[in-house]
Amino acid sequence: MNSTQSIGETYLTGITTTGTPHLGNYVGAIRPAIENSQNPAHRAFYFLADLHALIKCQDPARVHQSTREIAATWLALGLNTDNVIFYRQSDVPEITQLTWLLTCVTAKGLMNRAHAYKDSVQKNLDENEDPDFGINMGLFSYPILMAADILLFHGSKVPVGRDQIQHLEMARDIAQRFNFLYGEHFTLPEAVVDADTAVLQGLDGRKMSKSYNNTIPLFLPEKQLRKFINKIKTNLLEPGEPKDPDSSTVFQIWRAFASVEQTEEMRRAYANGIAWGEAKKQLFELINDQIRDARESYSALLENPAHIERTLQEGAKKARAQAEPFYARLREAVGISSLEC
Ligand code: TRP
Repeated sequence: MNSTQSIGETYLTGITTTGTPHLGNYVGAIRPAIENSQNPAHRAFYFLADLHALIKCQDPARVHQSTREIAATWLALGLNTDNVIFYRQSDVPEITQLTWLLTCVTAKGLMNRAHAYKDSVQKNLDENEDPDFGINMGLFSYPILMAADILLFHGSKVPVGRDQIQHLEMARDIAQRFNFLYGEHFTLPEAVVDADTAVLQGLDGRKMSKSYNNTIPLFLPEKQLRKFINKIKTNLLEPGEPKDPDSSTVFQIWRAFASVEQTEEMRRAYANGIAWGEAKKQLFELINDQIRDARESYSALLENPAHIERTLQEGAKKARAQAEPFYARLREAVGISSLEC
């Protein structure tokens, strides 16, 4: 990996450590990121955003377990940690230190406009609560911590979901303000939102999401995976009756895992009235074949958390090798460095 920061793009993205990875996360974020990790042409930083997790999850066991599961998932699926710096946010103290420097140049009014915060306030108002009910300062300043994540490593391309675009705009605003006050230190990041990556539907046909409780966890034991797939909502058409693939969740998930040919074949099977039970059986087999080996590695990794920990520590070391000297420069820029020089 090239350690100078001046040339090429730097890809950087964070994964909040609440919850267990599901098929939607896999197709939408994990699979493309792991494919990219095979490409040594880019510098890339992927990290577990455990400090972000604390904003919405105050259950220590859950944050801890989720961090372990997410790390194991990425490693089991073949993340190439020679090409990508893979670390845990809380292992890089410069991130929280930078957060403060950024907090002091961020207009409160900018944070007032954040969608996530505004939605929480609106929900309170709708429910006749105090507007600030249940809102912690972490939620309010969330975009500043996220800006620090990105700016500390000169992230220039940031793959995120659509809901995060505003946070990237805020990171740019904050960077520009800092650069204006203290000199050109930060690269302005850009969101990368891939319109082609599928947003999977969940068991009930809505977007697969933890908050709808409609997910299919990625590494379920085989039997459970079959059971979950059987729970996907379908209509009441009988075997032999032609079915519409484009309004079918089973077909939509099929397409996210199948080759072009397999997708066309399934389209024909729908036209020919494939039974829902049969379509689900084939979907189970397709997914199960693709994840079988990774699932085995995943279980092995969970039984050997020391290995996961070591890998994350190595990642943190590489990350800090870049963060430390840069942060020292930033301290100097704002005037809080040693008095001897
Ligand atoms: N906020 C992001 C999310 O919920 C996770 C995240 C934290 C992140 N820090 C980041 C993503 C920095 C990209 C860059 O999806």
